[in-house]
Amino acid sequence: MIKEKHFISYRVNFYLRHYIRKILRFLLNIIYIKIRFNKRFHCKCIFEGYDIMILCDGSVFCVCGDFGMEKPLGNIYRNSITEIWKGTEFERLRAAFRKNKLPLDYCSHCIGAALIPKNAPLPQTADFPEVVHLETTVQCNLECSFCHRDVIESQRGSKILPPKIVFQLIDEIIAHRCSKFLLLVGYGEPFLDKNSYEYCKYLKQHFPEIIIGSSSNAIPFSHYENARKLVESGIDALVLSIDGVDDKTYLRYQVGGDLEKALQGMKNIIQARRETGSFAPNIIWQYLLFNWSDKQPMIDKAIALAKEYQVDILHFLPTFSPISGISWKYIFKPYWGMIYRFCGPEREYNPHNRALIVEMKQ
Ligand SMILES: C[S@@+](CC[C@H](N)C(=O)[O-])C[C@H]1O[C@@H](n2cnc3c(N)ncnc32)[C@H](O)[C@@H]1O
Ligand code: SF4
Ligand code: SF4
Repeated sequence: MIKEKHFISYRVNFYLRHYIRKILRFLLNIIYIKIRFNKRFHCKCIFEGYDIMILCDGSVFCVCGDFGMEKPLGNIYRNSITEIWKGTEFERLRAAFRKNKLPLDYCSHCIGAALIPKNAPLPQTADFPEVVHLETTVQCNLECSFCHRDVIESQRGSKILPPKIVFQLIDEIIAHRCSKFLLLVGYGEPFLDKNSYEYCKYLKQHFPEIIIGSSSNAIPFSHYENARKLVESGIDALVLSIDGVDDKTYLRYQVGGDLEKALQGMKNIIQARRETGSFAPNIIWQYLLFNWSDKQPMIDKAIALAKEYQVDILHFLPTFSPISGISWKYIFKPYWGMIYRFCGPEREYNPHNRALIVEMKQ
């Protein structure tokens, strides 16, 4: 197996992150409960509905995260989204926040966690989640060396959600009409599920106001007909993960991939968009910055390619995972210094970092 080469550092990385979170949560709970700073914990996801995550075995979590180690809060094979959202497991988490406690290890670095003034009331629970994250499949055509997909895949009861269940979920979203985003992404390649195009099309036909976003390694779109189906599905935004501009650096992380096919996939989508006269999907090329892919000539080449292909946004994203791959040059730089936008504001949208696109560089 391709990952054997990295096996020890891979497992160390996975469990190290897990135990760091445990320790951090323990310390944060002590600091804010015992020492009683002027602030208290709040969670934007479980109260205001900023995120709910549904995985391909039907299990439901409170946020898009490293769910490998947390307990599910429900399963959509047994209950509707509404029943789970208002059910006992979500309520157990809310009760912990009401007591000013972080209930899960993942809370210690979760995008949903926030601090509010000590005496401020926690908001009412939203009727239905504003953002629904849906992983229809955990299968993938790549083995990115520190994507924890294989550990996570082994924990999933099934690898793909059946269309009957997905359409049921989509119908529930349509009936409520209050979700703003559907993010079709999890730990897998969403467009290996051939039904993904139909899911987007159906949802957009019945609820055009919703914004649908996803993330892909771009290889499925090296076949032009897939790029065309994508554009015709009505999806609003797509992150394309291509982490290098030469075979050596790209393959160091995106093991099993093919840079030429990934770039061709990106080109095809933009060509299909042009041919159909469509503005959508907004294309965000996401380039993970590691210490082997952060050299200036590589960055310059990515910018030149993005301009040539006419992608809308090029996002260089530094990451802490793996620890051995950290780009020390960039890890502490603010994100917005590294986002290059080539489109007008009407296309500005990034499903992963909705609030972070603030600067335009040409
Ligand atoms: C798990 S992937 C699933 C979607 C799709 N297969 C893809 O690669 O875009 C979702 C996101 O995780 C990001 N990702 C993968 N490995 C990462 C890492 N080590 N650090 C930060 N983000 C990572 C990818 O760039 C992608 O945007
Ligand atoms: S992990 Fe914690 S902070 Fe994050 S959404 Fe869940 S309960 Fe909220
Ligand atoms: S393509 Fe996406 S899901 Fe597949 S291994 Fe890479 S990061 Fe993980």
